[in-house]
Amino acid sequence: MTHRFPPGFLWGSATAAYQVEGAAREGGRTPSIWDTFAHTPGKVLAGDTGDIAVDHFHRSSEDVALMAELGLGAYRFSVSWSRVQPTGRGPALQRGLDFYRRLVDDLLDHGISPMLTLYHWDLPQELEADIHGGSAAGGGWPHRDTAYRFADYAAIVAEALGDRVELWTTLNEPWCSAFLGYASGVHAPGHTDPVAALRAAHHLNLAHGLAARTLREVLPARADIMVSLNPAVVRARSSAPADLDAQRQIDALATRIFTGPMLHGAYPDDLLADTAPLTDWSFVHDGDLAIAHHPLDALGINYYTPSLVSGSTDNAPPRHDGHGAGSRSPWAGAEHIAFHQPPGEHTEMGWSIDPSGLYDLLLRFHREAPGLPLYITENGAAFDDKPDAEGAVHDPERIAYLRGHLHAAHRALAAGVDLRGYFLWSLLDNFEWSYGYSKRFGAVHVDFATQTRTPKSSARWYAGVARANELPDS
Ligand code: FCB
Repeated sequence: MTHRFPPGFLWGSATAAYQVEGAAREGGRTPSIWDTFAHTPGKVLAGDTGDIAVDHFHRSSEDVALMAELGLGAYRFSVSWSRVQPTGRGPALQRGLDFYRRLVDDLLDHGISPMLTLYHWDLPQELEADIHGGSAAGGGWPHRDTAYRFADYAAIVAEALGDRVELWTTLNEPWCSAFLGYASGVHAPGHTDPVAALRAAHHLNLAHGLAARTLREVLPARADIMVSLNPAVVRARSSAPADLDAQRQIDALATRIFTGPMLHGAYPDDLLADTAPLTDWSFVHDGDLAIAHHPLDALGINYYTPSLVSGSTDNAPPRHDGHGAGSRSPWAGAEHIAFHQPPGEHTEMGWSIDPSGLYDLLLRFHREAPGLPLYITENGAAFDDKPDAEGAVHDPERIAYLRGHLHAAHRALAAGVDLRGYFLWSLLDNFEWSYGYSKRFGAVHVDFATQTRTPKSSARWYAGVARANELPDS
């Protein structure tokens, strides 16, 4: 049985601006909410920040050459909003745009397709204002105007790069922006207000739609416009009604809160009912849902691990992110739901390894959005990779993880899913949000003191898959 992928399948890797670029104060860039958050004591492990990160800003040609050496066909990167429009309003900063233009030209010169993400969590600090105390009158994503600022920023980037980038993503994982940023507090801007998180989720849906509309107006017809979501694979601990209801509730808050508006033009009734004690959703204005429902050319899916829930009150820490002291549940109105560690192997993040979750997601969206091409825009694993005496980095666990998930992707293709590409998270070890530099997701090892890049054995393995467009038998 061969495991060939379709001709033209895109094999790529992914990064995000704040996690790799560094050069935080160069070229007129101003702080984003992540700069502020990381510089707040106690928010990020070991006080790490993205000030230098892996210096991708200065080393992008070296990094592109590395991708080319590995035979990768695509690179998913994000634009730092405050590098190209420092206050989040008004005119563009040409020096910032020049960096991305050089990066894109370099990629194209090496035959690598750029996939550009407009927003990977780094809102310009100027657009964030104090919403402490639950007041919704401040800035950031709970504030409606931020969605309109995002559309203006989308126009700036599209005008600058639309002639050479064909794959455009509006938002990366808006769930994390809304719920980790405003409800659990483990991500920037670090607030713990469930209503603010729901408002943020709606304004992210609106921002996505406004930006998609703007991109469609500015970009040539050949450009594909998409969004990258992290839909949850939620499993119930048992078939008891309380556990099944917990599964339904988390599915609504994690996934359907975005796919409802974006794919179907409506919020799910059960979500509105579940959250009715918190809000009447009057922040949804007439016409918003039609805007959020802008036709997409493809859907990006990020998948790492499934969740196992029960309706009982013996609460356990939720999946994803944050060693954060003082953090709360991200699950607005569903704080009572318990999350359990699924049995079996897990990665260094503590995330259980389960490729069948990826298969399930691909099939779900194949059925739910017939005809919409899918991309896996992130998938990967952190392990405690260390160079050996010769300086080589062997990471058999990551190879096993990738092999398992690529087999799942291949099974989905065989079942008829229109899957167009796979982006490994991540090209390089980098700043893993509230975990700082303590978690290594790269196929390429980075010595953070010297910035030396060393492809791990998984990078060589993945390069072989990309070159052959086929999974090896063993
Ligand atoms: C995803 C993020 C990405 C990275 C991976 C591990 O949620 O989009 O930036 O942190 O998790």
